[in-house]
Parts: sequence; structure tokens; C-alpha cells
Amino acid sequence: MQVGALAQGVATRIAEKPALLGGPRARKDRFDSWPKFDLTEEKALLDVLRSGHWYRGNGSMVRKFEESFGAMTGASQVLATCNGTSALGIALAAVGVEAGDEVVVPPYTFVATVNAVLRANALPVFVDTDPETFQMDHRKLEAAVTPAVRAIVPVHLGGNVCEMDAVTAIAQKHRIPVVEDACQAHLAEWRGRKVGTLGDAGCFSFQASKNLTAGEGGAVLFGEAALRERAFAYHNNSYTVSGGNHRLTEFQASLLLAQMARIEVQAKTRTENAKYLTTMLKEIPGIRLAAQYSGTTSNAYHLYMLRYSPGEFAGLPRSKFLKALAAEGISASGGYAPLNTEACISRVLESRGYRRLFPDSRLKQWREANRCPENDRLCGEAVWMTQNMLLGQRSDMEQIAEAFRKIHAHAGALSA
Ligand SMILES: Cc1ncc(COP(=O)(O)O)c(C=O)c1O
Repeated sequence: MQVGALAQGVATRIAEKPALLGGPRARKDRFDSWPKFDLTEEKALLDVLRSGHWYRGNGSMVRKFEESFGAMTGASQVLATCNGTSALGIALAAVGVEAGDEVVVPPYTFVATVNAVLRANALPVFVDTDPETFQMDHRKLEAAVTPAVRAIVPVHLGGNVCEMDAVTAIAQKHRIPVVEDACQAHLAEWRGRKVGTLGDAGCFSFQASKNLTAGEGGAVLFGEAALRERAFAYHNNSYTVSGGNHRLTEFQASLLLAQMARIEVQAKTRTENAKYLTTMLKEIPGIRLAAQYSGTTSNAYHLYMLRYSPGEFAGLPRSKFLKALAAEGISASGGYAPLNTEACISRVLESRGYRRLFPDSRLKQWREANRCPENDRLCGEAVWMTQNMLLGQRSDMEQIAEAFRKIHAHAGALSA
């Protein structure tokens, strides 16, 4: 009886016109805003302000944050940094990446991953994406390993996790350090271990959109004290290594400590909502949800990712699908463009300095091999929703699913 009534309710709603064609919106309210804060954050910031100790040199908050983040992730060595890009640069330097080296990266990531490699004057070698999971395709990783490769950077994109058994096995076989880019994957886990602790170094971002944020900020986890010591010197303008100033401020650390009190409950809410949303969206033809490798014990759901097939939506192009979703009150994005062919990368490789660092034959071979067809396809099919949309109620998930169903049911009229 109840099931019948529910089915009837769904049938009535999808019979309604999509908002883009003048029907009622599936969702009228805004999704939860981000970041979340209250008087705890206000007090934390004021306490630092009034203390007059605003930098780690004379304050205690950065150190306290490092201890707490270590306890939360299970890492013995933590270094706070001013952002995730710095965290990556520092980690690459700490594991020994130098000018003229090569670093393996995925093309399905934020440009910062590759910028860190280019700032190290190293050559980014791209490994195609597994479109099922949106992660670096571990089956294609070993073919990218040349004798000049000095680091592998798996990126746990969207809070989903790379196939870390395979990545670790290949890295160990070739004795290459692994620097995890976990900038989008706070509290994600592989076989019960937090990401960021699976390689030689693990990098995090606390930029405004991230699941743990202070507006800006970053951290690197290390397995070895010696690596953290080198990284500390690098981030603190020392005379032992040539680095810079990449320090987190006391204000940011105090905000992060306050935000950390909320992170586990928020992670649980996202996971429960994502699972519920998945039960509904997987029934819609033409919607393929990002899969997880079997070793993934926790997905951080920084992004809820799926692939959209216009063929199952009467040929409705993705751009129009996203417009129709926005009209229903559901904002979603098409995600990244192919990074491996971006002009900002080819310009660096054509620069005078790079032509001095790398033989012409290597750069020519790089250009010929720099093809990631699965990633190109994925960039044309992806749809993302952001983590804050998963922080509400089950009814929010039902409205998202209703918007998808409505658009699917009326795709012919929308594409006309
Ligand atoms: C995958 C990835 N890597 C690196 C970064 C760089 O972090 P940040 O913006 O803190 O420098 C980000 C986030 O912006 C990211 O999403």
C-alpha cells in the first residue's frame, strides 16, 4: 500500500513538466551553505588575535593542529603548510624530486597537482584515467615508469580512492616514492587506513571548498621523521635546504582545530546521503555512478561523481542537461577539461629552461605518448555535485533524484 502510494507519488511528479519548460522546480530551497561555523570558530580566532601570537614561531596552535590531524589520520609525522599546492611542492622536494626528473600524474585532477610538478622543474608524465572510478588507471601505470621517474602522484579525486595496492606494488618494484594527493579526500580510507598515510607522503588542502577548511591551508603527512625534518626546513626558509616560506598561520590552525570537531559527523552524513542518493540514481538509464575499488573502506565524497549518456536522454547534450538540473534547483558541474593537453603545460615544456633540462628526443617522445583517450571521453561525460549538497536530509536526496527522473522522462521535449 505504502510502496504503491510512493510509486504513484513519483509517477505524478515525473509527469510534471521540467522547470526549464515551465513546470515547478524539484527543489526550491538552497542547499546547505559551506563552510559551517558558530561561536566556537569566533572564539578560536579571537583567542589567537588577543594572544598576539599569530605565527607558528611564537604560537602553539599550528603545533596543536599537527598533533590532532596526526591523531585523526594515524600519521606520526605531520607538517602544516599554507595551502595544498605548497604541500605537494614540499612533499616532492622532501622525497627527492629535482629539476630534470619525471613525475607520474593523472590527467583527471585540479591543475595544482601538475603545477607542483612543473614548479619543481620536473616533467609530468600522464597516465590515463579509469572512467569507472574517475581515478588514475593503475593498469596503465607501469608503462609510464621511465628510469627518470622520481615520484608517483596518485590523486584521490573527489574523495574516492585510487587502487592503492597496485600503485604501491609498482612503486615498490621500481623503488619510486609515492606522494598521495589527498587534497580532496580528508578521512577517505583504503583497507581501513586513512589516505595520505599509504605512500611516502600525503598532501591535503584546506582551501575554502574542501571538506576541512580554513579558507586556505594545507598539510603533508609523512611516514618518516627524517622526511618531515627536511620538509620543515624547506617550508621555513632555512639554511639547510633551499625552500621558502610556506607556513600556516596560527589563525588558520585555530580555525582548523574548531572545524575538526565537526568533520567526523559531517563525513558520516555525506556517506549516508550519498548511499541513499545512489540507490535512486542508479535506476535511471544513462546515469552511471562513479564506482569504488574493492579496497575502498571509506569515500570522502568531496564530489558526488557520475557519467551522463545523452543517448539515453533523447540526445539531450550534457550542457543542456546541466541547465535543466539548475532550473530544478540542483546545481551540478561538468567537471574538468583534459589537463594533459592544456596550453599552460605545453608552454612550460617549450620554454628555454625545459629545453635545457630535457633532451629534444624525450620531449618529442612525451608529446607523442601524451594521449589519454579515456580521460578525454570522461571529461565530456562527467557530472559532479559538491559535498555540501550531501550534508542535508534524505528529503534533499529525494529532490535531487526527482530532478534527474523528471529530466529523463521529458528528455525528448527538452532536446527538441
Ligand atoms: C586535487 C587537488 N590537488 C591540489 C589542490 C591544491 O590545493 P590548494 O588550493 O590548497 O593549493 C587542490 C585544491 O584546490 C586539489 O583539488
